[in-house]
Amino acid sequence: MKIGIDKIGFATSNYVLKLNDLAAARATDPEKLSKGLLLKELSIAPLTEDIITLGAAAADPILKSEDKEKIDMVIVATESSIDQSKAAAVFIHGLLAIQPFARSFEIKEACYGATAALDYAKLHIEKYPDSKVLVIASDIAKYGINTPGEPTQGAGAIAMLISKDPRILIFNEDNVAQTRDVMDFWRPNYSTTPYVNGLYSTQQYLDCLKTTWDEYQKRHKLSLKDFAAYCFHLPYPKLALKGLNKIMDKSLPQEQQDQLKENFEKSILYSQKVGNIYTGSLFLGLLSLLENSDNLKACDKIALFSYGSGAVAEIFSVSLVPGYENQLSRTRLEELDQRQALSVEEYEHIFFAEAELDAEGNASFSGYEDQSFALAEIAEHQRKYIKVEKSS
Ligand code: CAA
Repeated sequence: MKIGIDKIGFATSNYVLKLNDLAAARATDPEKLSKGLLLKELSIAPLTEDIITLGAAAADPILKSEDKEKIDMVIVATESSIDQSKAAAVFIHGLLAIQPFARSFEIKEACYGATAALDYAKLHIEKYPDSKVLVIASDIAKYGINTPGEPTQGAGAIAMLISKDPRILIFNEDNVAQTRDVMDFWRPNYSTTPYVNGLYSTQQYLDCLKTTWDEYQKRHKLSLKDFAAYCFHLPYPKLALKGLNKIMDKSLPQEQQDQLKENFEKSILYSQKVGNIYTGSLFLGLLSLLENSDNLKACDKIALFSYGSGAVAEIFSVSLVPGYENQLSRTRLEELDQRQALSVEEYEHIFFAEAELDAEGNASFSGYEDQSFALAEIAEHQRKYIKVEKSS
């Protein structure tokens, strides 16, 4: 049975911080960000936008009523959850009006979680071929003002509908995972921002890539020559470029090396404008590749490297389905350019904003008219979300 991704959706916030502005405010050479990290802009999420609203906004446009009837599992992968107990997937299941007899839950392992969710979704469809699984990767990456990670923040969600006979890509049976217990990046429950051993985290990322890729090639008798493109987890695109250079096989014909490099450039276009969206970053890279590459064709194989700090890595591959391009958007870059630019002062205001609860745990919010879904209020400590009605 062929199982894979039938539809992909993406959502980000309506606000953007241009990194040239951030560089000026932090007295940093702008080229450190544009060339040193390969980043241009970051999406900034206001209080009314969180992983629930972003996740629902990513999934809503891709789901038809027949999908909602067939989805019997909703998995949200995140490392910026809004509740220690109730799963984000339960809120999103409700907001999207998915049929009730579904299993909805949250999954966590830093930026790796969505890959584990896809693995589970695939097993589920193998057993229940007529069902569909909605996998959402949703995160807001927040490192702190004036920290080394600040220019790599971001906000966004990717939604993937997993089914048999998918129309975009098929999962190949070749996953190789690796776990190693390291402290490169973590966020204790009492902290709103992560602790990061920056340089160490990049070393772990690159070493997990190299060692997992070696094992993958050994187990599956495959090598770089078998792939048209390689997508990487994108904490910031420069690290992924280092990854590509690390595994590049210089004995490949120049034409194929050029194709891999060209496709890499296409895979980072969205992340360069959105920043790190943690669990969704790898799949935002995949979407960017599929929507912008002009050299991919049906049956081409794409390798994916998933990395979650802590750390779990996984390499797997997918094959493109004939007609895959019909399921994609060609206007995403223009849409990203519609976001409202923030001054650094406005960004800092949003960064530090917190819900001001009264003694009973109530707060109400406004200014979310341009969002698709919004956190409208907190009532007795319960977060209340709405689908924002658009006036025509
Ligand atoms: N012009 C051009 N380039 C310049 C420059 C200039 N004026 N000044 C510096 N650079 C270059 C540097 O040479 C460096 O490039 P190389 O890596 O090729 O040497 C690059 O800019 C970055 O500069 P620094 O090495 O000084 O590092 P930094 O202060 O920008 O911090 C970081 C980098 C530690 C990764 C920081 O961004 C960070 O802490 N990020 C968060 C952690 C992270 O993303 N880790 C990645 C692996 S963990 C993971 O993948 C999970 C996840 O999503 C978090």
